[in-house]
Amino acid sequence: MCGIVGYAGDKNAVAMLMHGLKKLEYRGYDSAGIAYLSQGEIKVKKCKGRLVNLQNIVSDEIKEEHHVGIGHTRWATHGEPSDINSHPHVSRDNRFCIVHNGIIENYMSIREQLIVDGYNFESTTDSEVITHLLHYHYKGDVIEALFKTIHQLEGSYALSIICNDYPDQVFCVRKDSPLIVGKGKNENFIASDIPAILKYTRDIYIMEDHEIAIISSKLVTFYNSLGKKIEKQTMKVTWDENASEKEGYEHFMLKEIHEEPVAITKTIGPRIKNNEIILDQLVLKRPKKIIIVACGTAYHAGVVGKYLFEKLLRIPVEVDVASEFRYRDPIIDKHTLTIIISQSGETIDTLFALRKAKENNSKVLAIVNVVGSSIAREADDVLYTWAGPEIAVASTKAYSTQLSAIYLLALSFYKGEKYKDYVNQLQDVPKMIEHILNSTDQVMKTASLLYNSKSIFFMGRGLDYALSMEGSLKLKEISYIHSEAYPGGELKHGTIALIEKGTPVICSLTQPDILEKMISNIREIKARGAFVIVITQEEQVEKINEIADIILPIPNVDPLFAPIIAVTPMQLFAYHCSVYKGNDVDKPRNLAKSVTVE
Ligand code: M6R
Repeated sequence: MCGIVGYAGDKNAVAMLMHGLKKLEYRGYDSAGIAYLSQGEIKVKKCKGRLVNLQNIVSDEIKEEHHVGIGHTRWATHGEPSDINSHPHVSRDNRFCIVHNGIIENYMSIREQLIVDGYNFESTTDSEVITHLLHYHYKGDVIEALFKTIHQLEGSYALSIICNDYPDQVFCVRKDSPLIVGKGKNENFIASDIPAILKYTRDIYIMEDHEIAIISSKLVTFYNSLGKKIEKQTMKVTWDENASEKEGYEHFMLKEIHEEPVAITKTIGPRIKNNEIILDQLVLKRPKKIIIVACGTAYHAGVVGKYLFEKLLRIPVEVDVASEFRYRDPIIDKHTLTIIISQSGETIDTLFALRKAKENNSKVLAIVNVVGSSIAREADDVLYTWAGPEIAVASTKAYSTQLSAIYLLALSFYKGEKYKDYVNQLQDVPKMIEHILNSTDQVMKTASLLYNSKSIFFMGRGLDYALSMEGSLKLKEISYIHSEAYPGGELKHGTIALIEKGTPVICSLTQPDILEKMISNIREIKARGAFVIVITQEEQVEKINEIADIILPIPNVDPLFAPIIAVTPMQLFAYHCSVYKGNDVDKPRNLAKSVTVE
């Protein structure tokens, strides 16, 4: 989704902005632009397409001396991707220039009024109203104009602004869209996301809704929502900078899959002492009901959570997609624990779902990867997944660590006789994934056979169904192959009509108690010509041999822990299909890493 950078300092602003935008590329975008102050004048360079296009039109500016500027990568929501719709947008007197992340929901009515007031619009974006509003309200004081402007805006925004009356400064403000300020030496930064500035500083301020920050090369000043000057504390980012580099892997996605064993160890290791799960910082009582809310891959981790919590704890669990949860009337009260799952901690639907749960007096526990993100800050308790930065749009190690956190949580409440055994098995997960990562030939071969398929189905029962949902999402988002996941018993209620000779169906068979049922379901699709790929524990291979065209074995693991192991071959399969198709694996079309609009 859109990315923002802002710079004021002693280095060349254009080069710094381009560096920041490069680091934000992974968020997904379709156009990019920068604006900088040159001898008191605002200059804008922007264009549709990849950053390389922008690089070509700013190469001269990189040699010149400019010290203040803003930059943007745009993921189109209102108005097609085009040069004109790209950000930054300037006011009619060229005094203000803005970049915007988020959506201004009431932009049509503001636009109509501004047109009546004599303003012309160049773009079809919602964002352009902001520059004209700033111009409209400006009587010599930017802060005043900015407050008046944001009071008129409905929706979400992170804004970075330059004004030629203040040639040394960059202004910013946010509401429901992430924004941070970075503190450097003789330079300060604004960014929508930490990787953009990590090379230059680890000291960041997290902006709260409606706070305004002004940066210059030497100073960072904050105002609260009432316009009062305030002091804020910096937070230290502890990420390893190399974590956002490919380190020899062809793609971030492959690197991140290979990081799963370490990421899981980091997530569970510090929370297990003497074979006992200790979640120190959490003050949770056993709830009467659990609601898990998330989007995409995080939602699929939640579906695994439902099966686990219900099986181990006998607590009723609902799982919901955040955008649905928010607009239905969920039955939720102070006896309900709401678990919010999010890698970025900034997904807007998930953030709003969190707020809805809190409004209904539910205690909210967030399973989040990004420290200091909005969701982490607003939840009552946080269980961090220590996956490190995830750059590829397709979530992989985040899913594995989300599952690890769910296992930790479920086991921390579990009082059954298998407790010790389960805790031991959880600790064995990283080495089992390591084993899969050391023998990927069969997965690659399967991808080489199937990457041209029109459609690939996934099928499983129970935990295997939850896992299949994630396998299917991974495949479609990066290989663009149509895919659907079905419970084993459900296919014959309609979708089996799509099975014809050679249709690939990836079947998860890791749950022995329902193995025979799945075998019958596989026979049903085989009878219609399906090409069957089975993922199962090594010890079950012999039994499955006769019905499978290909078997992708995983180490022998207790069925309870199978999803966290069996997802790795699915991720690798999706990855190799995408590579064989020549797709942009890390930045799949139309997708954004962090979805900060509704
Ligand atoms: O940052 P979040 O975990 O809240 O993101 C949720 C989804 O947008 C995300 O998992 C998305 O589905 C990924 N592209 C999946 O690979």
